Amino acid sequence: MTAKVMQARQEAHAYEMRVGDGVPDAAAQLAHGRDCVALVSCARVLRTPFGKQVRAALARTGNCALVHTLPDGEKGKTLAQTERAAIRLLQAGATRRSLVVALGGGAVTDAAGFLAATYMRGVSWAAVPTTLLAMVDAALGGKTGVNLPMAKNAVGAFHPPIAVLADPASLETLPERELRSGLGEVVKYAALRPALLERLRATARSGRADATLVASCARIKMEIVERDPKERGERKLLNLGHTFGHGVEAAGGFAKYTHGESVAVGLAFAFRLARALGRVDSAAVESLEGALDAAGLPAHVPGQVARRAARLMGYDKKRTADGLQWVLPRTSRGGAWEMEWDVTAAPRAVEQAVEEIGEEP
Ligand SMILES: NC(=O)c1ccc[n+]([C@@H]2O[C@H](COP(=O)([O-])OP(=O)(O)OC[C@H]3O[C@@H](n4cnc5c(N)ncnc54)[C@H](O)[C@@H]3O)[C@@H](O)[C@H]2O)c1
Ligand SMILES: [Zn+2]
Repeated sequence: MTAKVMQARQEAHAYEMRVGDGVPDAAAQLAHGRDCVALVSCARVLRTPFGKQVRAALARTGNCALVHTLPDGEKGKTLAQTERAAIRLLQAGATRRSLVVALGGGAVTDAAGFLAATYMRGVSWAAVPTTLLAMVDAALGGKTGVNLPMAKNAVGAFHPPIAVLADPASLETLPERELRSGLGEVVKYAALRPALLERLRATARSGRADATLVASCARIKMEIVERDPKERGERKLLNLGHTFGHGVEAAGGFAKYTHGESVAVGLAFAFRLARALGRVDSAAVESLEGALDAAGLPAHVPGQVARRAARLMGYDKKRTADGLQWVLPRTSRGGAWEMEWDVTAAPRAVEQAVEEIGEEP
């Protein structure tokens, strides 16, 4: 297999995304000529064959001064962990000409990217995503950050990486539920670009995300981010399904539903809300929910969870003074749909969609 290499651009900053094999060597190449390289990861990923390969390739360069292990998942995305990691960088002799290599899922790429954004007012970083969600979403676009105890991603910075190196073969060790969680974002891209639906179905059948699927989704995100790096307009499209989705995630205490499962329910919600507003017909709702079903993702939650999610989505940080703004489809010519952002919705339509998403026992 050969790797696909794509160019991403964010304002004056250009970087490469590589999808396919050869990631350890590509990471080692980035390490050459740096004062010091710090590999930031988590124990679980460092134990995988892919993690070991990346670590060994960096060790061979001779300038990997530090392997820093973050606690797994969201526990690694805190200011306290950023402080700990920054102290270790300093002790290892990291300068402004150092490189942070983030190896792991979105939690690691967010936390290590934020570390790189703030250490000595910013050092370079490269992302080596190892979950489907990080390959198609979290590692791209330059948003980095950590959580506060009461709010996810509340502290962060825009700091794009110098490269994103993704090998879908590294997903072999990923638990099935995490793979499906990544498919939640893939369904989002398919809702934005329906041509992807067929490839999504093939992936769901095989249970494997290949380089073509990863590259197609990544390209959609990179193109949108290139046109609107700071989320003033079009980039809001990438929040499709996330307003209600974040509510579901919060209603489940950030434990019951993964991010991708929550986004799946949020996508179904967005299409049902669009139908309640007369923007799309039932065929669009069925098409979207068919894709969720094929991917093994939920379109509904218990009624109690749906109502709680509706209350909690008010805390979404994308909320503006005008109330909630939605990304919603509208039927265009030929039965297809187009997505629009900054759409407002009558409270009655929102209530209707909440009712439809909730299942009573
Ligand atoms: N910056 C952005 O634009 C952006 C976008 C979307 C999501 N995010 C963030 O991403 C995070 C979620 O990322 P995630 O879904 O990748 O979860 P995650 O990073 O928590 O990883 C999920 C689990 O999989 C394990 N893992 C990772 N790779 C593995 C592999 N190859 N084999 C075996 N286990 C592996 C991890 O150790 C973890 O236990 C959230 O914090 C979210 O806020 C950021
Ligand atoms: Zn998401």
